[in-house]
Amino acid sequence: RYDDAYHYQRIFLPLIKQEADTDRKLKESQVYEHVMVRWDTGLNKRQIAYFVLPRVDVDAKIMPGDELRLSTLDRTWDAVGNVLKVPDNIGDELSLQLKLGTKNIPLDTSNGFRVECVWKSTSFDRMRNALTTFAIDSNCMSHYIYSTLLGYPMRETNTNRPVVLPRRITAPNLPELNSSQVSAVRIAIGSQISLIQGPPGTGKTVTSATLVYHLVKATRAKVLVCAPSNIAVDQLTEKIHKTGLKVVRVYSKSREVVESTVQFLSLHLQMLGNAELNKLQKLKGETGELSDKDERRYRSLRVQVEQELLSSADVVCTTCVGAGDPRIGKLKFRVVLIDESTQAIEPECLIPIVMGCKQLVLVGDHCQLGPVVMSKDVAAAGLSSSMFERLIALGLRAHRLQVQYRMHPILSAFSSNIFYEGSLQNGVSPVDRIMSEMEFPWPNIEKPMFFFNTCGSEELAGSGTSFLNRAEAQTVEKITTQLLKGGVKPEQIGIITPYEGQRSFLVQHMQSTGSLPIKLYQAIEVASVDAFQGREKDFVIMSCVRSNEHQGIGFLKDPRRLNVALTRAKYGLIIVGNAKILAKQPLWNHLLHHFAESGLLMDGPLTRLHPSTVDLPKLKRLHNPTPVGGRYLESTLLEAHSALMPGVESRRHNMVGGGHPLAHIDPMTLHDPVHAFYPDAIRRAAAATNMQMPACLLIPNMLTQEQFMPWMMVPGGRQADRGYSQGMSQGMSQGLSQASYNLSQNSGYMGNLSQGSDYSAQMSQGDYM
Ligand SMILES: Nc1ncnc2c1ncn2[C@@H]1O[C@H](COP(=O)(O)OP(=O)(O)O)[C@@H](O)[C@H]1O
Ligand SMILES: [Mg+2]
Repeated sequence: RYDDAYHYQRIFLPLIKQEADTDRKLKESQVYEHVMVRWDTGLNKRQIAYFVLPRVDVDAKIMPGDELRLSTLDRTWDAVGNVLKVPDNIGDELSLQLKLGTKNIPLDTSNGFRVECVWKSTSFDRMRNALTTFAIDSNCMSHYIYSTLLGYPMRETNTNRPVVLPRRITAPNLPELNSSQVSAVRIAIGSQISLIQGPPGTGKTVTSATLVYHLVKATRAKVLVCAPSNIAVDQLTEKIHKTGLKVVRVYSKSREVVESTVQFLSLHLQMLGNAELNKLQKLKGETGELSDKDERRYRSLRVQVEQELLSSADVVCTTCVGAGDPRIGKLKFRVVLIDESTQAIEPECLIPIVMGCKQLVLVGDHCQLGPVVMSKDVAAAGLSSSMFERLIALGLRAHRLQVQYRMHPILSAFSSNIFYEGSLQNGVSPVDRIMSEMEFPWPNIEKPMFFFNTCGSEELAGSGTSFLNRAEAQTVEKITTQLLKGGVKPEQIGIITPYEGQRSFLVQHMQSTGSLPIKLYQAIEVASVDAFQGREKDFVIMSCVRSNEHQGIGFLKDPRRLNVALTRAKYGLIIVGNAKILAKQPLWNHLLHHFAESGLLMDGPLTRLHPSTVDLPKLKRLHNPTPVGGRYLESTLLEAHSALMPGVESRRHNMVGGGHPLAHIDPMTLHDPVHAFYPDAIRRAAAATNMQMPACLLIPNMLTQEQFMPWMMVPGGRQADRGYSQGMSQGMSQGLSQASYNLSQNSGYMGNLSQGSDYSAQMSQGDYM
C-alpha cells in the first residue's frame, strides 16, 4: 500500500533509475574495434553498413531496431544507425541502416571501424514521466483506478452506463468464445478494472481481441491496446484487425525499419496513403534533403495526417513504452487493455494508464516467466513483480481462462497438474493434433512426445557466460533431420534451449553437419526458452544442456521456465537431456517419472529408440507433508478452490494425497468450467480453520517458490528434508515482493555469473519500444 501517488513515485523511481543504470553500463561496455564494413544502398536509397561482430556478449544481445554508433578509428567520422537484421550465426553479417541525412559517409573505406552500442533512455524517461503524471495529475486516471493502484480497492460504483451485450459474444473472423472466455468478456466489459489470467494457449489474446471489439462497439471509446513486447502487440493487432475495427499500430521510430506481419497497419505506412506526403517523403529520400519550403510543408503535413489517422482510429496498438510516444501523447484513452501484462514491470504498465484511463483490463499469466530485471538488487526490491500480481495480492479477482487450444492433450497434462492445479482443460482432441501423414519414430504414435536421454557433458560457451552441450546438439540435429525427412516443414519446427551458448552453437552445428540442404536448417527457428514465451510451433525440440555432477541445473530449475518450455508445441514435443542429472531436482524428477511411466523416457539411437533403464530417484511428494505450514497452505488453498469449482475435488486428492499426482487424471476429457480466483473465499477458509494467514499466502502466485512449493527450489530436494519452517519464514519476510523468484533465485547454489547473465540474455530495450 502506498500513502499516495508521491509515495508510489518515491518507491519506484529509484528502482527504475538503478535498473536503467545497470542496463546502460552493460550496453555502453560493448565496443568493437577494427571492424570491416561492406557498404550497400537499401531499397529506400539509404546507406546500409554490413559487418561482422567478432563476439556478441549475450548480456547485451543486439536486437533489430537497436542503435549502434559507427565511427572511424581516428573518430574523424561517426554516425548512428538502426539495426535492420541481427545474424543468427556468429560470423554472419549484421546490417545497420544509417540515419537519414548522414553526411560524408566513407564509402571507399572498408577497414578499421569502431562499433559501439548506443543506450537509449527512452524506456526509462517514459516510465519516469508516467510516475510523475501519476503523482501530480489527479485527472490522469479515474479515482477508482487511482486508489486501487495505491492499494485501496474501492467498492465498484456503477458510474458506467449499463452495457447491453449481444447474446452471442463473438467477433467477426475470430473463433467463437467458450464459456470461460465469454464470462471474462462480460465481467471485463462491466468492470472498471479487470484481470484475465490464462495458462498458455487458452485464448487470452483471442479473448482480448474480442473484448476490444465489444468495448469499441458498446462504448464507442477509442481503446489503447498494449503489451510489453513488440511481438505480443503485433499478434494482438493482427487479431483486432481481423474483426474489422480500424486499427493503427504505432511503432517507435527505430522500429519502423524492422519487418513485421502487421506493418501495413503501422502509422508510418498508413500515412503514406496521403499522396502529397508520400511524394514529399519520396523526394526527401532521394535527394536527402528538401527545400526549406518543402521541408516546412512536409513537417506540418506529417503532424496533420498523423493526428487525423490516430483520431479516426478505433484502436491504437503499441508497446507499453510506446504509449509514451509524443505522437499519441495528445490523445486521451478511456479504455486500456494490456496483454501479457505479467511480463511488464509495474512502472511500464503505468505508462498507458496515465493517459486518462477509466477502464482497465490486465491480461497475463503469473505461472509463466515474469518481467526481466537486470539488476539483482532491484529485482529483490520488488520490481520483478508485476502490477497484475500486486492487484491480486490486494484482493482483486483474476478471471481464469481454462481451456487450451494449442497442445495435444498429452502435452498439456503435466503442466496442467503441476502448475494449474489440474484445472487446465483441453479444447483440442488427440485427433486434431495427430499428423498422420508424417513419418517419425515416435515411441508411441498416440503420444507424440518423448524424453531423449543423452549423456553428453556441458561446457562453458565461447563467451564464458553461457553453456553448450555438443552431444545434445548432435542429437537435436538428428531429430530435426528426421522430422524434415518425415515430411515436416522447417517453419513447423521450433528448437528451444535455456542457454544462449547452446542456441548459437545449435544453429551453427545444424547448418554445418546436417545432411539436408542448408536452407532447410536456416529456416528453422532456434530460440531461447524465454524468447519463445508467447509463441508456438507444431513441433518443438528442447535441449536442456545442463549435465554435471555437482553444479546443479541452473536456469532449468525455475518452474516457470519449465512451464513455458513444455507448453510451446502443438503436435509433438521432444526433450533432449541427461535424465540422471536432471532427476536430482525434484520437479524434473516428476517430469521424468511422468515420461517413464508413459513409456516415453527413451535411450537412443533415434532409429532404434528403446525405454531407458536409467534409475530415477524415488519421487518426493510435490508438497512438504511434515510441518503444518506446508500442508495447511496447500490444502487451504485447494479447499477454497474446490468449494467454488465443480470438478476440482477429485483432482485435489491426486495432488495432496498419496500416489503420483498424475494418476487418475484423464487428459483427454474436454471440459469448460468457469473458474476464478476468490481471495475472499480463501480468507474465509483460513478463518474457519482458525489459523493466522499472512497476506502473501492468500494467493499462490504471490508466494515465492519456497513458500508455496518448497520442494521445487531445493537442490536435489535435500533441503526439503530439513523442514519447511526455515524456508517459510525467510520467504515470508520477503513478503509480497516475490523477489527471490526472479534473478536472485538463480544466483543460488550455482554461484556463477553465467546464470544471471544468460537469464537476461533476451532482454534488450529494443524490443520494448
Ligand atoms: N474459443 C476458441 N475456440 C477455438 N479456438 C480458440 C478459442 N480461443 C482461442 N483459440 C485458439 O487457441 C490458440 C491460442 O489462442 P491465443 O489467444 O493465442 O492464446 P494465449 O494468448 O492465451 O496464448 C489460437 O490458435 C486460437 O485461435
Ligand atoms: Mg497471447
